[in-house]
Amino acid sequence: MREVKDDHLIDIFRSLNEVYPIGAKKPNSRYMGEIIRVTDLHSVVKMQQQREFRFFNQDEVRKLELPGNLAVSKPSPYTHNIVAYLEREPDEARVYALGVSVIKPEVQAAYLEAKALQDKLGISDLLLPIDHLATRVYSQNREVAILEYLSWSSYYFWGAYNIKDQNSSTNITKSAHPIPESKSPAKVFTANNTPYFINHLEHLPSPTETFVRNYGPRLHHMAIAVKDGERDGKEHIDLVVDAITENGKGFLLDVIGSKAEGLKQIFSNASEHSSLIIEYVQRYGSFDGFFTQQNVAKLTEAAGFM
Ligand SMILES: [Fe+2]
Repeated sequence: MREVKDDHLIDIFRSLNEVYPIGAKKPNSRYMGEIIRVTDLHSVVKMQQQREFRFFNQDEVRKLELPGNLAVSKPSPYTHNIVAYLEREPDEARVYALGVSVIKPEVQAAYLEAKALQDKLGISDLLLPIDHLATRVYSQNREVAILEYLSWSSYYFWGAYNIKDQNSSTNITKSAHPIPESKSPAKVFTANNTPYFINHLEHLPSPTETFVRNYGPRLHHMAIAVKDGERDGKEHIDLVVDAITENGKGFLLDVIGSKAEGLKQIFSNASEHSSLIIEYVQRYGSFDGFFTQQNVAKLTEAAGFM
């Protein structure tokens, strides 16, 4: 995630935001993409270049103020996201070569304050790592966006949910390595089934493509897993949502789903800074789905208009 504080800085990521009517309102703020760990950076880049994937060169990476030790792709024509490769051993510390950089004391203080507040609210141990990252693309780019990501990464196509009434489908890819989402989040691609301009024939709403037309293809939400269980007779996700609500952050809908259906989930309002939505998802037992039949249409609808 990047937010450039210099209003005069012009780069390709700002340009991508500026093409879209609502994206243009926050031209300096953007979810960029994921960093993928590799064992041999040179060989990976060489192989990817052989099939004509494009990378920023060293000078461009420096000008973008991105870490110099990453191989950074050019934005995808389908998702506008990037991927970057970082060579390191699994037990090696992550190092980002950022040249002269500082963490401002007031920023560090705000971070520590936020963490202290989570402790005080009793939700620190309930919030688990990121579960999935959901990108929205134009309908005509659905298949290629997925294939492209499978080609950039070690991910495989896991399955899709057709949300027919909302003219939308949600397509899930996961790491092919035997590791859980908490180590390598699922990557989700949502797109209209048919383009918005033929909706007068199908008489269906078009929330997914409306989002894409307003913001551009981009990350729509990050989902944070909530620890399975309950405390004082209240399920963890409800504790988390209540604590966040009491501190002034709103949600698009109430918590939906149930233990019987396998999961409960909720979407926050979009951040005024990043425009991103945060989903909270609590799965029960071994349930591995992303929606339940009853709530998928509601969520798609609610998350389309922001
Ligand atoms: Fe999601």
